Amino acid sequence: MRHFISITDLTREQAISVLATAEHMAGTQSRSIRKLPTLVGQTVVNLFFEDSTRTRISFEAAAKRLSADVINFAAKGSSVSKGESLKDTALTLQAMGADAVVVRSGSAGAAHLLAHAGWIDQPIINAGDGAHEHPTQAMLDVFTVRRHLRPGEDRAGLDGLHVVIVGDVLHSRVARSNVALLTLLGARVTLVAPPALVPVGAAAWPCEILYDLDEALAAGPDAVMMLRVQRERMTGGGFFPTVGEYARRYGLTADRAGRLPAHTLVLHPGPMNRGLEIAGDVADSERSVIVEQVASGVFVRMAVLYHLLATDAREDTR
Ligand code: NCD
Repeated sequence: MRHFISITDLTREQAISVLATAEHMAGTQSRSIRKLPTLVGQTVVNLFFEDSTRTRISFEAAAKRLSADVINFAAKGSSVSKGESLKDTALTLQAMGADAVVVRSGSAGAAHLLAHAGWIDQPIINAGDGAHEHPTQAMLDVFTVRRHLRPGEDRAGLDGLHVVIVGDVLHSRVARSNVALLTLLGARVTLVAPPALVPVGAAAWPCEILYDLDEALAAGPDAVMMLRVQRERMTGGGFFPTVGEYARRYGLTADRAGRLPAHTLVLHPGPMNRGLEIAGDVADSERSVIVEQVASGVFVRMAVLYHLLATDAREDTR
């Protein structure tokens, strides 16, 4: 692995290998000294053109736990807002001695461009590019599901599991990366959304698409992943009639959650709109692993940085 841009670049073996490393990283994080010397002397740059709290902090924590130095480059207030191009930004980062760049952008393909345009030689990690992909989010979601439903099986995939992903699929890079990773690992995926929030072309994805949430939940899935309604991307409006109508038809209410099998997990990538796509009581319930997802994020990002930057890992995973 040279970069971490898209789940579609990974083989099943590589995905499982990163998950196994994340499991190992998790083990190190319950020790009294949590810092590992793995990336001493290396610098990780977080280049964020879009707002983010948990993803940026998670990458920062992951890099620091591996003893890397971290530079946070928020594009708002930088020369990028004065019109500096992605190319000039890349050349600046290279000149500053970045050993890896974590990039989040509102434009699909930004991470790919940075990795392959030839401006910069360092590994690039995609922390979300427009509505395209968010591969480390999918890795942390799968890591969390696997810990609960395939515990202790280090090399296991998700064969035989059924995952339902619900909501604003159209604007969701989380959904795209998850469909790719869950199916790569053998899970069956059902997407549920109002018709206006299903992307053109989704019929060709390796999953089933339903418009009725109760029908999807009646199948007794092993995990239900709720997506945030991304109102900031809904310019033009008209995606659903009213907020109340959306919550009634597509929200995970306490009543709906109460009809799920006892083992079914509830996930959400955050930030949540409590009372819209998910009821507050459900988000705080026993079956919710939403807070655990945040912890998993640090382990998975430590694993990705390890695979891309640690000299011993580079030898065996390339
Ligand atoms: C997601 C994102 O930014 O794509 N959040 C995250 O990474 N924690 C999902 C979202 O914003 O809805």
